[in-house]
Amino acid sequence: MSAAPRAEMHGDAAAMAAEAMALIEDLAAISDEPGRLTRLYLSASHRRAADHVRAQMIEMGLATSIDAAGTVVGRYEGSRPGMPALLLGSHIDTVRDAGRFDGALGVAVALAVVANLARRNRRLPFAIEILAFGDEEGIRFPSTLAGSRAIAGSFDLSTLADRDADGISLADALRAFGSDPAAIAAAARRPQDVLGYIEVHIEQGRVLEHANQAVGLVSGISGATRLGVTVEGVSGHAGTLTMPDRRDALCGAAEMVLAIEDVARGCEQVVATVGRLVAEPGAVNVVPGKVAFTLDLRTFRDAERRRVLGEILERCDAIAGRRGLELHHEVFYDQPTTVCDRALKAGLAATLSRLGLDPIEIQSSAGHDGLALAALFPMAMLFVRCKDGVSHHPDESVSPADIGTAGVVLRHFLEALH
Ligand code: GLV
Ligand code: MN
Ligand code: MN
Repeated sequence: MSAAPRAEMHGDAAAMAAEAMALIEDLAAISDEPGRLTRLYLSASHRRAADHVRAQMIEMGLATSIDAAGTVVGRYEGSRPGMPALLLGSHIDTVRDAGRFDGALGVAVALAVVANLARRNRRLPFAIEILAFGDEEGIRFPSTLAGSRAIAGSFDLSTLADRDADGISLADALRAFGSDPAAIAAAARRPQDVLGYIEVHIEQGRVLEHANQAVGLVSGISGATRLGVTVEGVSGHAGTLTMPDRRDALCGAAEMVLAIEDVARGCEQVVATVGRLVAEPGAVNVVPGKVAFTLDLRTFRDAERRRVLGEILERCDAIAGRRGLELHHEVFYDQPTTVCDRALKAGLAATLSRLGLDPIEIQSSAGHDGLALAALFPMAMLFVRCKDGVSHHPDESVSPADIGTAGVVLRHFLEALH
């Protein structure tokens, strides 16, 4: 690389990193829970975060809106108004007790890059729209990716009746947020208006750390299946019900959880997680009569995921049968593995190479909004190095220098795109 672009890179990188970090810190302070970062889809804190992102977009001179699924949209026109748009973005919802980079990083880098273009009054031969989605984590309602599915025209209107743990329906939560559920279909984009979608995201793994590099490419996003499982036994008195007479739903569920772990451990590149388990009636002196738990199952090979799910259900059935329990399950999310667009990926790879970086490709085991968007538009992602691979945890960390590099890569890619 010549001396000139390297010098230019430093100034740009530092400025974009500082701007992106400032927004990431702002968003980290907007939480549903004091003392830890939890920002669930359509919560009061999601609304505050959306308003904050929108205010930043307005300050940058973007045309803004919040669509009916709660996605914040900021449009930077191209060399002529009304040109097809390249979509950039990520999500501003979080898991419970989250880190500050998962999602916020991609929104913040996109804003910093577009602010850089706007300051130089650099108009491109296409518009850019920055999207801040609200439902990538999918932990409030059974359905997931409501925002990106609305944009892709694949939002399932029947999910409006889904309820969260407090019994609030998705439709009512949208209304409380200030959105009109009846307008969701109108949020869908036409393929001819969109050139593609590019997302910057924290890697959530250690490939880049091991390669000692700030930024890499995503080759594809792992498919996932999520289920609700219910185990029914018979509740009874913890003192008087003898052990042989019990049909304890929690003991059965415990055995199932370990069987799930055992099945997944026996398969390569399969991960299975029971992330939530509720026993009823939930009293110290009552044998649990009913247990509900969730299962999240992922692997890159869709056929393997179906096979493993079958094996897990067989093992759980056998446990239920042996213990006199009833077993029910309902798949509430099933997303096939999605590959990133070859042409967009090649463009990003060429940019990385031009900047002296190795175009390392990483498979994403985490889900992203690109899963929904890829059905309609070309989709690609950049990963940014993640300290120790830690994510979905308050210790999640990305260095400002790496954020600056991500900004430079994205800006160079955009300016080279015709
Ligand atoms: C989202 O982060 C997911 O992969 O579940
Ligand atoms: Mn994410
Ligand atoms: Mn996440």
